Amino acid sequence: MKRLLAIILCVLPLGVMASSGHMALDKADVDLTNKASLQRGFKYFVNYCLSCHSAGYARYNRVGRDLGIPDKILLENVIFIRDKKNEQLKPGDLMKVTMSDDYAKDAFGTEPPDLTLVARVRGADWLYTYLRSFYLDPSRPFGVNNTVFPNVGMPHVLWELQGWQALRESHAHGEGEGHGEGAAEAGGHDGPAQLVLVKQGVQSPAEYDQTVRDIVNFLVYLGEPVKLKRQTLGLFVILFLVLFSVLAYFLKKEYWKDVH
Ligand code: HEC
Repeated sequence: MKRLLAIILCVLPLGVMASSGHMALDKADVDLTNKASLQRGFKYFVNYCLSCHSAGYARYNRVGRDLGIPDKILLENVIFIRDKKNEQLKPGDLMKVTMSDDYAKDAFGTEPPDLTLVARVRGADWLYTYLRSFYLDPSRPFGVNNTVFPNVGMPHVLWELQGWQALRESHAHGEGEGHGEGAAEAGGHDGPAQLVLVKQGVQSPAEYDQTVRDIVNFLVYLGEPVKLKRQTLGLFVILFLVLFSVLAYFLKKEYWKDVH
């Protein structure tokens, strides 16, 4: 019986590993203390994602406060969305898109999910890999597919920045064919191995990786805004405990002074 248990305990983690690790993910290496990166991520998010996806549990001015962006700048440079009466949303509004669900279903076959908590659901590495893994596939409605999300309903919205990638055939018969060298070179960044950049966008592969890292950094923050605060809060708590201990010590001394 004990033996059986031991075997089960040994094998269990292997099963878990096998079921989760079907696709190698690249490391996002996000840094929540990097405010500039978070601000850039916010900018990209508003410009490239918020037209389809809501972040409906977050308010513009909460994000603005956390990232050091005043309401005036939010109104001038960040809030593009208008409500049903065609009035610009206010800093205190939720980051919701106005596209109706039916329209989205017609256009994309599925609704773009809310992204407020997506980093908690998918993880930073998945997001980082996903946004760098769109490739040309004429059989798909938008002409693109994705290696970590096969047959995805989302177009490659960052194509102007990244350019276009193609899925390369396996190395087995690629040797010595001569052509495709340029593509191999262009695709030599640290993306998933089988993807090659066939047409570069306005950013270099390294710049594009940084852009995606900024977006993912922002999404990680968005999923848990208090993470930014936690460290300073912890410091305050410790400081309070230290001060309180000192106070308690002197109080004790004061009380026991006359007892002897
Ligand atoms: C043109 C509309 C559109 C834009 C713009 C867009 N997306 Fe999407 N996105 C979609 C649709 C539709 C899906 C659903 C795909 C599916 O389920 O097949 C999706 C799915 C996703 C998913 C997968 C969610 C999940 O867990 O299933 C992520 C993550 C995502 N989008 C992130 C982004 C980010 C980040 C941006 C901005 C850089 C962005 N999207 C811009 C339409 C869009």
